[in-house]
Amino acid sequence: MRFRTNNSNLMLQRLLLGLMFASPLSAQDGQQLFTLYCSACHAADGKGATGGTFPPLAGSPYLAGDPDRAVKIVLKGLTGPVDVLGKTYNLEMPPQGATLPEDQIAAILTHVRTSWGNQAGPVTAGQVKSIRAAVADRAMPWTAPEILKLHPLPFEKTALTNLKSQVYKGEWKYLPDFAKLKAENIEEEHDGIISLTDSPYKEHYAMVWEGTFDAATDGDYYFRLDSAGAARIIFDGDILTELNGFGPMDGSRAQGDISTRTKGPHSIRVEYLQHTGAQGIAIGWKAPGSTEMKWLTDPPATVSKPRESILLAPNGNRPVIYRNFIDGTTPRAIGVGFPGGLNLAYSADNLAPELLWTGKFIDGANKWLSRGTDKNPPAGENVVTLSKKQNLPKEAKFRGYKLDPAGNPTFVIQLSPKRILLDSWSAENGALVRKISLIDASSNPDGTSEEPDSTVENPNWVEFSVCEEAIGDKMTVQMDGGPIRSSTGPMISIVKAGKQTTLIYRWKP
Ligand code: HEC
Repeated sequence: MRFRTNNSNLMLQRLLLGLMFASPLSAQDGQQLFTLYCSACHAADGKGATGGTFPPLAGSPYLAGDPDRAVKIVLKGLTGPVDVLGKTYNLEMPPQGATLPEDQIAAILTHVRTSWGNQAGPVTAGQVKSIRAAVADRAMPWTAPEILKLHPLPFEKTALTNLKSQVYKGEWKYLPDFAKLKAENIEEEHDGIISLTDSPYKEHYAMVWEGTFDAATDGDYYFRLDSAGAARIIFDGDILTELNGFGPMDGSRAQGDISTRTKGPHSIRVEYLQHTGAQGIAIGWKAPGSTEMKWLTDPPATVSKPRESILLAPNGNRPVIYRNFIDGTTPRAIGVGFPGGLNLAYSADNLAPELLWTGKFIDGANKWLSRGTDKNPPAGENVVTLSKKQNLPKEAKFRGYKLDPAGNPTFVIQLSPKRILLDSWSAENGALVRKISLIDASSNPDGTSEEPDSTVENPNWVEFSVCEEAIGDKMTVQMDGGPIRSSTGPMISIVKAGKQTTLIYRWKP
């Protein structure tokens, strides 16, 4: 594909740019360089020129996460079929590497990775320089499969935001009247995926998810519900689709419905009832005029290639969260891949961090490409096991996790009605930093206590596990600035209400 613009205009712009860019380039300059070198094909609004003949950069997963992928495409071009946001293109992007110096490529990519709702991190001239050196021998443009093998796409989000799950324990034949029940467990589901793996039970329970469905355009939305248990989709307060009774989730019970909606946020509520035996729920949907099925749940097993993602990786400086089966820990584990190649699997069953490892996070390939029950092992090295059982008092309950503005998780554990344990994790200077605090909501900030919750049964301290297993010679652990025994386990410590304990887990060189 070639394109032409008004030549004298182009020269004037180049001249102006040359005058302006004697100093290091900023994102502002990136916008002007983008206009000059990319917008003829990708359009000023990043949606793809000539009504989408060219692929979009706005919302493109090719620009998310690891910047190497986009740098390599800009340097050497791209040819052959490529899927971007549900559409297949089969064109050719000419290499831009010969024309553009490293700082300009960095400025352009910083601009496109942070514009039109894209939320990836900045790119530096140094990064471009080292990638240019690494691919110097390559003459041909990349194909999409080649580039994806080197730099897999990060995890794709669903259309749901503000998703919350609630679990109810009980034995019912029909979906119960949830208004009369109290949820056992409420969690925020930051990945926007409706999943039964969020339930601590296998049978005799019900689940409700509530969230916001973001409709990108006005029109007719198609929803398809299939499930092994009774299930219901409630859209903007009205029942859209309902399946009664129990049966196989093989499509024979599935039901599809069309719903006309306006562009913007809509409330969605999904209810599910599990009796005994096989469990499962699959909700697919199609945007107005689209034939592509997208999923609000994990896709059913018969769908062979539901998501593009393979290797999961942090999105720039933001940790990536993975909610699914991880080998080596319990069924309800939360994987966190921090920037810098430090990884954590936190068990929501044992209420403790269980695995720490370095390098690659998790390879989601078998998860997305075959059955939903496969376990994915840590994809990296130096795996350290911190815990294998629950050490907190048995009444303790997992209450989900919260993310701070940088995307770092805090796991929330309720110890008793008024006592909450917060377990926060982040990666700093090549180490995992864990901050634990016990909040006693019965004591006031001034030190007075209304109805003391800290009784003999509910003391104002709790024991937690630093590393229950021997962590061997792989790692050192520091607590509140001082070293602790690192080669022998078990190692249990105490946190007092109102006081924060800081632990630093660092791999030995
Ligand atoms: C001459 C037209 C043209 C120009 C100029 C161009 N591209 Fe592309 N670009 C394409 C085409 C065509 C494809 C898809 C190639 C294929 O089908 O394999 C593409 C694909 C891409 C992709 C991967 C797919 C996607 O949509 O995310 C990225 C990223 C990209 N271009 C970035 C850029 C950037 C940044 C610039 C400016 C430095 C640029 N392109 C300049 C035509 C162009």
